[in-house]
Amino acid sequence: MNKKRYLPKVSEIIYKNLIKKIFFQIDPETVHNAMVKLGEQFGKHKSIKKVFSSQFIIKDKSLKQNIAGIKFENPIGLAAGFDYEARLTQILPSLGFGFETLGTITDSPYGGNPRPMLGRLPKSKSLMVNKGFKNLGARITSEKLTGLSFEIPIGISIGKSNVPICNTQKKGIDDMINAFTVFENSKARHSYYELNISCPNLHGNVSFYPLNNLKELLTEIDKLHTKKPIFVKMPLEKSNNETLEILNTISGYCPKGIILSNLSKNRNNKLLKREEVDKFPAGIGSFSGKPTHKRSNELIKLAYNNFKQRFVIIGCGGVFNAQDAYEKIKHGASLVQLITGMIYEGPQIASQINLGLIGLLKKDGLRHISEAIGIEAK
Ligand SMILES: Cc1cc2nc3c(=O)[nH]c(=O)nc-3n(C[C@H](O)[C@H](O)[C@H](O)COP(=O)(O)O)c2cc1C
Repeated sequence: MNKKRYLPKVSEIIYKNLIKKIFFQIDPETVHNAMVKLGEQFGKHKSIKKVFSSQFIIKDKSLKQNIAGIKFENPIGLAAGFDYEARLTQILPSLGFGFETLGTITDSPYGGNPRPMLGRLPKSKSLMVNKGFKNLGARITSEKLTGLSFEIPIGISIGKSNVPICNTQKKGIDDMINAFTVFENSKARHSYYELNISCPNLHGNVSFYPLNNLKELLTEIDKLHTKKPIFVKMPLEKSNNETLEILNTISGYCPKGIILSNLSKNRNNKLLKREEVDKFPAGIGSFSGKPTHKRSNELIKLAYNNFKQRFVIIGCGGVFNAQDAYEKIKHGASLVQLITGMIYEGPQIASQINLGLIGLLKKDGLRHISEAIGIEAK
């Protein structure tokens, strides 16, 4: 497996020194749309995929896992929020990603919140996110996926439709159940679901925090007996006690795992540079990347120490390199997701992290990733 790979490093150099410098002069939403379209086109060409695959796919038995009945060739996934129109499923495997979550998808389509929907905070290594679940809706997305086969596990993140009529708890729950039902009844070959109860950018009064609200939702989800496992996307900014209460509640229902965590709403986070945050109107958006890193790691540790027998843990927040991913694994995560790292480091990031992880495991005298999970959780 240890063949010479020049493309990941070359790609990083070109990306950071040229492409990123150009992209960062252009409106982020425009760049995002163009890149996703390009990725979709690349995914249609076998020859391009072959070249990418030969350089970016890292196959090593130390990284393979079977989790919740799903085979993962490596632990690095693209998190929910980047590919909300399901355009990248055919190209991401060739870039070395081990799995991908689509969405968040909602029952009703949504064109996105008023702009700005996306912003960059380069000094803070963060992104401002205010999309509000921009997506094509469950029916169109499931139709798009039907007939496609996937080289890596694909997950569907499901959330509540961000439309004015979906404004009571009951309507919110019915709406999410409808979205699950669309995918359950479809022929799409996805492998798992994410249940997004933690988006900080939605309209309306629906919340899953009073635990009774969460119980109502999970009771209905249990009744679906979904064919694929469900992982719950958790909030970042609840206290330890609140997080434990939420996890305790979820543990009484069907979800097999949890993702720690979603975005940060806290504009006073010390890792956010004031002059960068103040560029965005007060009250708008949430923040990704470095400012989420520390708390996400604390929550992974907390969850591992209290629920390691019950939940698969997926770590998410501020992963920019192999060391960041390894830290999450050593705190208790079996899999790791990212978005912001890819924007700042380049599309080769999954490949480089996987290569780095193999080295880090070896350095610690470990033969398999499973031996590293949780070793620094105490
Ligand atoms: C542009 C963008 C859009 C996002 N949209 C969603 C979303 O629709 N659903 C969701 O569960 N998380 C969403 N997230 C949160 C990410 O999945 C992830 O939890 C968070 O960004 C932390 O990871 P990162 O630091 O690697 O970006 C979004 C993040 C970004 C940057």
